[in-house]
Amino acid sequence: MHTRTDAVRLLEEWVASAALRKHMYAVEAAVRHYARLMDEDEELWGLAGLLHDLDWERHPDDHPHIGVARLRELGYPEEVVHAIEAHAWPDRTDVVPESKLDRVLYACDELSGLVYACCLVRPNGIDDLKPKSVVKKLKDKAFARGVHRDAVLRGIELIGLPRAVHIQNVIDGLRAVGEALGVRGVDRAAR
Ligand SMILES: [Fe+2]
Repeated sequence: MHTRTDAVRLLEEWVASAALRKHMYAVEAAVRHYARLMDEDEELWGLAGLLHDLDWERHPDDHPHIGVARLRELGYPEEVVHAIEAHAWPDRTDVVPESKLDRVLYACDELSGLVYACCLVRPNGIDDLKPKSVVKKLKDKAFARGVHRDAVLRGIELIGLPRAVHIQNVIDGLRAVGEALGVRGVDRAAR
């Protein structure tokens, strides 16, 4: 079994951008939070979150195929690799999100980006962030333009939870590692 330490080493080898690394850690945190809520294998699920954008920086045109091929070579569990393939559906792969992990990774990816962006424009960061504020920014297309709204909405459908519940879960997941992500109020004040 590949450990988190192995996965972090791989991430650091492939990804130089601090922003992309942070995104991958944020998605990992959200997916791990769901694993705890759903009583699933947190270590296994965490690998999918951590490595889902492994090849994004090196191979933007072939994402996620190159990363997926490397993970298969390294013997990563098929469940993890499948979820990574499915997170790029339907634009980049034909792999439809089916398993619980597929759906959770899909639903956490773009939404984590939006939640993160919301934290950056608030004095208290993630400390008092509520789903309502995130929904407002979801509808404001001029805010955090890089976040694909279609994918956020598709993710909410795939996870099958009320929108506010899902957003709260992602906030809780990110809050658990808020210090490392630099999204807490105290971190923001120190800047
Ligand atoms: Fe991502």
